Amino acid sequence: MKVGIVGAGMVGSAAGYALALTGTVSRVVLVDQNAALAQAQAEDIAHAVPFASSTIVEHGDYPALAGAGVVILAAGVGQKPGETRLELLSRNAAVFRDVTARVLDHAPDAILLVASNPVDVMTQITTRLTGLPAERVIGSGTILDTARFRSLLGRHFDISPRSVHAYVLGEHGDSEVLAWSSARAGSVPLMSFAAQVGSPITENVRAQIDDGVRNAAYTIINGKGATWYGIGAGLARIVRAIVQDEQAVLSVSIATDEVLGVKDVALSLPRIVGAAGVRTDLMPDLTDDEARALKESATLLQSTADAVEL
Ligand code: 2OP
Repeated sequence: MKVGIVGAGMVGSAAGYALALTGTVSRVVLVDQNAALAQAQAEDIAHAVPFASSTIVEHGDYPALAGAGVVILAAGVGQKPGETRLELLSRNAAVFRDVTARVLDHAPDAILLVASNPVDVMTQITTRLTGLPAERVIGSGTILDTARFRSLLGRHFDISPRSVHAYVLGEHGDSEVLAWSSARAGSVPLMSFAAQVGSPITENVRAQIDDGVRNAAYTIINGKGATWYGIGAGLARIVRAIVQDEQAVLSVSIATDEVLGVKDVALSLPRIVGAAGVRTDLMPDLTDDEARALKESATLLQSTADAVEL
């Protein structure tokens, strides 16, 4: 299985690095308008491969994407310090008009995996621009926020984050919704688990975790200018679900007919992901407050995407 990555900046190359180290795919091709950058990143990643796997890592122009089963779209610009993801929109929408056409010219059967921000709106735009079925245009969405949520809960309880089952829904951004009420550790509802291990989730702990998840990117961007390792691993995780036809439940974004009465909006829900892309959307049980917040997030994303002229 070959995976293409368009955009060899930090996010695209971190995804390539994660794919190569995990040996998830046999071939990774990096494409960038800056061919020297794509070449340098591909070579650097290729030098890590002998320590880990047999993945071939190369660079090329769009024709090199021929035969790719998944193409990660990580082209465009990232947030500047203090900038929201939604403020990137017009700059990245213009880039995608060109990129999506060129990708499909050479890899017409690929599943597109959108990483560029604002990722939900970019996913909606990519679906519209390409005319592909929604299940074949997957945004990384809240895969990363969900990882951040699981990581902070795992740290609070001093357990592996892999034993924490908790999802972030809605926008990958400021209006996202941490689905506290359906969260579990092991199979135990979170509050009961907290009591059993003597690590209660007080209002203060809850506020700190919410802030840590919602504002993680701002904190990291202030410290090092951008984020890449987390999202790179998240993208590799989605690719694995596709290439191994895992039918894994992951929080990802796709254009969705209706979410809580909001029509035609791309946002994240837990969804079943396999070789054909997204098979089924899932809606966790939500409290009234969580449902209200998810509806607000959906409304914001829908009106933002509707305002984009293609
Ligand atoms: C992140 O959340 C900036 O969207 C990127 O790390």
